[in-house]
Amino acid sequence: MYEKILIAAGLAAALIPVAGAVEGSADAGSKKNSMCIGCHAIPGYKSSFPSVYRVPMIKGQSAKYIESALEAYRKGERSHPTMRGVAQGLSDQDIADLAAYYGTK
Ligand code: HEC
Repeated sequence: MYEKILIAAGLAAALIPVAGAVEGSADAGSKKNSMCIGCHAIPGYKSSFPSVYRVPMIKGQSAKYIESALEAYRKGERSHPTMRGVAQGLSDQDIADLAAYYGTK
């Protein structure tokens, strides 16, 4: 009887979505970054193309920052054409996973 209450409480908790947040997984992110590493190469990041751009280092930035930067590119609030193109192909889950992989908490 007591067990049933616990199970019901556990189920309810599992069914309530975390408000607005998509949980990122660093593991999943590590499998989605193949299109990032050409530019944001790690370690010792360097970009050979286009050489005029200094590619920022993203590994180790805050996950929140990476997430909001990618969302801003996707929405067009940040205007860099390549990153806009890249971000437009990402889902919320992709962004959360990549932020978890590249970012620190
Ligand atoms: C073709 C090269 C290229 C590719 C591919 C690329 N990026 Fe970028 N990225 C850049 C450049 C250049 C900038 C700086 C743009 C600017 O000045 O706004 C940038 C900026 C960023 C920023 C903002 C960093 C900051 O310090 O503000 C993030 C986050 C980012 N990229 C993540 C990614 C992720 C994640 C991927 C893969 C899904 C990716 N990028 C793929 C070239 C690239």
